[in-house]
Amino acid sequence: MTDTPKTSNAMWGGRFAAGPDAIMEAINASIGFDKRLYAQDIRGSRAHAAMLAAQGILSNSDAEAIGEGLLTVLSEIEAGDFPFSTALEDIHMNVEARLKEIIGEPAGRLHTARSRNDQVATDFRLWVRDQCDAAIEALTALMTALIAQAEAGADWVMPGFTHLQTAQPVTWGHHMMAYVEMIARDRSRFTDARARMNECPLGAAALAGTGFAIDRHATAAALGFDRPMANSLDAVSDRDFALEFLSASSICAIHLSRLAEELVIWSSAQFRFVAMSDKWSTGSSIMPQKRNPDAAELIRAKIGRILGATVALFTVMKGLPLAYSKDMQEDKEQVFDAADTLMLALAAMTGMISDLTVNRERLEAAAANGFSTATDLADWLVREAGLPFRDAHHVTGTLVAMAEAKGCDLPELSLEEMQSVNPLINQEIYSVLGVHNSVASRQSYGGTAPDQVRAQIARWKAALK
Ligand code: ARG
Repeated sequence: MTDTPKTSNAMWGGRFAAGPDAIMEAINASIGFDKRLYAQDIRGSRAHAAMLAAQGILSNSDAEAIGEGLLTVLSEIEAGDFPFSTALEDIHMNVEARLKEIIGEPAGRLHTARSRNDQVATDFRLWVRDQCDAAIEALTALMTALIAQAEAGADWVMPGFTHLQTAQPVTWGHHMMAYVEMIARDRSRFTDARARMNECPLGAAALAGTGFAIDRHATAAALGFDRPMANSLDAVSDRDFALEFLSASSICAIHLSRLAEELVIWSSAQFRFVAMSDKWSTGSSIMPQKRNPDAAELIRAKIGRILGATVALFTVMKGLPLAYSKDMQEDKEQVFDAADTLMLALAAMTGMISDLTVNRERLEAAAANGFSTATDLADWLVREAGLPFRDAHHVTGTLVAMAEAKGCDLPELSLEEMQSVNPLINQEIYSVLGVHNSVASRQSYGGTAPDQVRAQIARWKAALK
């Protein structure tokens, strides 16, 4: 048994003789986390009060007292000396209760033609909308860092991999620009989500709308929304905007995790393609030679929190009948944690990419390993000797086996050795076996030829201006 407070809740306790059990208070209260919505809550309340006055529902003097009082509450919270109370459940009631202490009776009129259901839906939309803007800005910064890396090494050759086995030579710039494309799509997902969520729930009241002659278009405009939401039940009960934010965050997180994984591999002693700056590495307390890519590893790992939050909120929302249910209070912590994690991961990734030292010589040496120009050889046989591709593939395979047996690379096979496999091969074959010629030949749109890569870099630089 826990203590049951004697007094009922001042905000909704009219029909209650006693207050909630202490455990009830613990499970019910959201102030521990939804205090992060204070600025949005106060902004929404000020817009609501101003609209009520403009509609003649509230006197101008009451509306003015409310507006001013809310600014006082705002500055108290920002100064860090606001007495948040668990008994008052959430940010909405904490703000209103403090407003009552400051301005007295008019505070009680603020909640006219409103419910916490449309209030929280409005606050949270405003918060998630801001996060979309922050994500878009951070993604733009990451694109800029990737483009700078791509531009520096637009024609540096490196191995391109499939199955993490050397496949064909590509350029460093091409590899960096692959991530630019991914991050750009991530950015557009946040832009799309933001546009769709930019409708205002305020005025939907508890679920059915209100009998007061409110002006929902005015509050929507005052809060920077494109329009009021058109259905009051939908307005208070959907969290698809949060799910979209989490979904966009999850897809972005996958991209960050893949890039982080590549940085971990590339910075290993076996690869040495890149060196992480001291700013983004740590040492080992026992092995003095170690230089660990912790930031990349942590980005790779923290992505789990974002995916977890996404699954959690999908699970909360599935099967909820219309309209509001308290389950939906569980939306905030998931979104807060995912947003914080995403912003931290983006900032760390942007820093790591900007400060990355790329080992051009190692990239080039590795590019030539593993018979990476075998496809070029096969293509030459098709183009110059008129072989069907399947036959050319077979001839090339025989030559690779021959080189492997000799322990040499393809260009080190003599012309006689090559002609013993197919007599149509001539001296010209050597021109396509070099990695620079190989990448330069990949001139198809979106291919790895430095000209193509530079064209994509120029396109993105212009787009980001
Ligand atoms: N703290 C609540 C939430 O985050 C606010 C809405 C409460 N509404 C209600 N009818 N109890 O969902």
